[in-house]
Amino acid sequence: MSTAGKYCVLLFLLKSILSDSATSNQVVLLDTTAVLGELDWKTYPVNGWDAITEMDEQNRPIHTFQVCHVMEPNQNNWLRSGWIQRQAAQRVYVEMRFTLRDCNSIPWVSGTCKETFNLFYLQTNEPLPAATRFRPSDYSKVDTIAADESFTQTDLGDRVLRLNTEVREVGPVTQNGFYLAFQDVGACIALVSVKVFYKRCPSTLRNLASFPDTVPHMDSSSLVEVRGACVENAEERDTPKLYCGADGDWLVPLGHCICSIGHEEMDGFCGACNPGFFKAIAGNTKCSKCPLHSSSHDQAGTLCHCDKGFYRALKDPTTMACTRPPSAPRNLVSLINDTALFLRWMPPSDLGGRKDITYNVLCQRCDGSDGDGMTQCEACEPDLRFIPRALGLTGTSVAILDFASHTNYTFHVEAMNGVSGLVLSARLLTNVTVNTQQAGSGPALVGIINKDWSTQDSIALSWSEMEQPPSEIVEYEVKYYEKEQEQLSYSSTRTKSTSVVVTGLRPSTVYVFHVRARTAAGYTAYSSNFEFETAADDPDIADQGQVLVMVTASVGGFSLLVILTLFLLITGRCQGYIKARMKSEEKRRTRLHSEHVPFSGIKTYVDPDTYEDPTQAVEEFAKEIVPSYICIERVIGAGEFGEVCSGYLRIPGRMDISVAIKTLKGGYMDQHRRDFLREASIMGQFNNPNIIRLEGVVTNSRPVMIVVEYMENGALDSFLRTRDGQFTVLQLVGMLRGIAVGMTYLSDMGYVHRDLAARNILVDENLVCKVSDFGMSRVLEDDSEAAYTTTGGKIPIRWTAPEAIAYGKFSSASDIWSYGIVMWEVMSYGERPYWEMSNQDVILSIDEGYRLPAPMGCPVTLHQLMLHCWQKEWSQRPRFNEVLSFLDKLTINPSSLLTLVNDVQSYSHSPEELPDYPLFISIGDWLDSIKMSQYKNNFLAGGYTTLDSISTMSIEDIRRIGVCLIGHQRRIISSIQSLRLQLHHIQQSGFQV
Ligand code: ADE
Repeated sequence: MSTAGKYCVLLFLLKSILSDSATSNQVVLLDTTAVLGELDWKTYPVNGWDAITEMDEQNRPIHTFQVCHVMEPNQNNWLRSGWIQRQAAQRVYVEMRFTLRDCNSIPWVSGTCKETFNLFYLQTNEPLPAATRFRPSDYSKVDTIAADESFTQTDLGDRVLRLNTEVREVGPVTQNGFYLAFQDVGACIALVSVKVFYKRCPSTLRNLASFPDTVPHMDSSSLVEVRGACVENAEERDTPKLYCGADGDWLVPLGHCICSIGHEEMDGFCGACNPGFFKAIAGNTKCSKCPLHSSSHDQAGTLCHCDKGFYRALKDPTTMACTRPPSAPRNLVSLINDTALFLRWMPPSDLGGRKDITYNVLCQRCDGSDGDGMTQCEACEPDLRFIPRALGLTGTSVAILDFASHTNYTFHVEAMNGVSGLVLSARLLTNVTVNTQQAGSGPALVGIINKDWSTQDSIALSWSEMEQPPSEIVEYEVKYYEKEQEQLSYSSTRTKSTSVVVTGLRPSTVYVFHVRARTAAGYTAYSSNFEFETAADDPDIADQGQVLVMVTASVGGFSLLVILTLFLLITGRCQGYIKARMKSEEKRRTRLHSEHVPFSGIKTYVDPDTYEDPTQAVEEFAKEIVPSYICIERVIGAGEFGEVCSGYLRIPGRMDISVAIKTLKGGYMDQHRRDFLREASIMGQFNNPNIIRLEGVVTNSRPVMIVVEYMENGALDSFLRTRDGQFTVLQLVGMLRGIAVGMTYLSDMGYVHRDLAARNILVDENLVCKVSDFGMSRVLEDDSEAAYTTTGGKIPIRWTAPEAIAYGKFSSASDIWSYGIVMWEVMSYGERPYWEMSNQDVILSIDEGYRLPAPMGCPVTLHQLMLHCWQKEWSQRPRFNEVLSFLDKLTINPSSLLTLVNDVQSYSHSPEELPDYPLFISIGDWLDSIKMSQYKNNFLAGGYTTLDSISTMSIEDIRRIGVCLIGHQRRIISSIQSLRLQLHHIQQSGFQV
């Protein structure tokens, strides 16, 4: 049959279809639709495949290959591509577009016509020489390709084109290049296009870092870690990393860069700040407008310079406006009384834009005038006292003491602020001149001072009073100091009489004394200096020593008292503080405790939802991990919130730990982040060998991550499915025991899991089972098994106790029900509870009293324990600690595990006698449906020809007919149980078969 003509009429339809090209994560090695010249593909034999080249509207060739020798038997037609260079590819994909004729639509071809073709490949380091003979045996088969859609004669007539697209992975390709070969064994095919490509993660920008084109790892589950380079004008914070996945997708962005000073983020790059703006610190903040009285004239400003006349103090932040010195203080006034002179002023009208204003009071004494009539001014006496001080005043007044009378003092008050020191121009002062004649009296009124007597530590002095002082003397002030000390420090004492005993002196020491009088008008000048010496040391040391000791003791005693008082005060305060802290902590604990106490004496679970701010719960219960300590190796799954990866935690100074890392995808909302981290704040409260251990969280950088211990064997359900029949009953009981330990711990803490199922148990390399998946105990969004109930809750029906499904009564007793289901899952190596029954049927069956039968090979005792866990009345179910001690007894006495429930008939809660099976399915169909077709003949030979006949089969019967593999026995028996259950349910619902 000649086909060329028929195919040619279809080509115009193909033209439009062939226009699309590669996506950005594909690198195309060959695309026949893009080859403008000859393709030069070879056919063997030459009259097998036909090459047809048509031109499209733009005069570009469309290369098509077709073959249709459907009438002739034993076809073996090969089409071989040219040599395709591998380039950087590790895993190569071939996309074939083809049409395939439906054999039924071709008359007279039955027996010879096929509906598939085969794809082969051959790797070589170089193109084969042109003369090389084609040897099919050199080629490795990739796959047999069948059409999803074949087309019929009518389609041809209707010109409806059924174009198939099939993609196959070829390789691994390790040599420099390869050939593809298409084998036709008698089909009617038009190969319209062939595209050969490999995947790569395309170069990208993420978190201000650029990542190059990266070819994924040969092993599809491994990730390639790629370090990013910061974009121009950015600098690294945490090392930016991305992971390239097998499909050419970038995953798990870690670390980031930040824009340098003078630059801000703009569309993934760092752009310069515009004039008038600046950025003084690196970070992902925007450029700021220059503060008041400053400006920047260039691009990429890191600082704004102060305008003329304005300044920035050394400690001023760059974001602060520039400022200037204050104007002069205003309204300076003086006031004088007997002994003191007061100055008062008002703050300057212009504070210069700052708040750190202080004042200095400078003093000059201007006594009389020189010969030329000019006033003579000099610095004031050093002993003039300023209260509180002369310089750096923060208030607007000062008192001045000890001034001389009858003197002109000029006081200058200047205002200063933080930038005054930067300004060289004249200081702005306000002056006031005060004459003290009305305040003090002039000359010294004391003449000679006499020493009356002295001891080692005291000197008695006296002096004579002036006969007629200018004004009445109020008191005398005696000033003295050790001569050797040269007035470095002096003491003074006051007396109303003309004598004084100065005490507290050192023996054999010369002291300098001078005395001045205070009259109603103020102090007079001091007398001249007089020097007197104390007596030498007395030999009667004992007496003196005693006094000294007593004094020291009393002084010491006082100090001790002071220290003690202070100590008591401080510790008292401290205790108060500790108590106060304890009180608030206690209050919170008490609140939580009273809400959560399940059993006394055991740490209580704190629901993170009781925190006003859930991030506080994360801070309290989970350690923050430095992201650079986490090394991600591969993606092991996908959670509701983002990828789950494996890797290790490398904390300096500690051994590496294998970890699983749950990531929160970018672009999440606050609520997602809270829900995601909720799991960490729950897990972080647990510490038990059968509860998955939280290593910590990353919350301060993106992506947010939860890091937990790595469990080598993954989830228990899939683990058991892949190891069907490979464990002893004791090993399975060991797994159940571990889960019971974890659940006992959780129930003792008052935690209700709500989603206990084998899929939420993780298994480590030593078969230790640990309870996991805590985050969803409230919402169950993440569990694909969870279905909405009539009350709106989302519940994993098959695992959940009836009272929890019906009215949301979740408790440790409902967790026990789930535990019974987990027991069943474990003993049946991961079988689905209630098989393919619908959720609604499961609910109805349970309500009618039906319970799952014992899995094949399950010890009776264990099935009884399951049934105990599935008591309708929740208070009748065992507690976790009871389950645990029961399992312990079984392990100690393994003979109790020897009685197996092998006979499917023998389960204790079996419904009434079952009727015949419907005869509308054959044994063959049934075995096909459970992928056990290879036993069809065994069943027939054993006399089992109807479904009715298999319904009573026991495990022995199944072994007897020759099903030897334990996994196959299990699958068949489980299916028989499932059929029985479905039938039972059909019966209960009144359906007549
Ligand atoms: N999948 C989810 N969590 C896991 C873990 N901790 N270990 C291994 N696989 C996991």
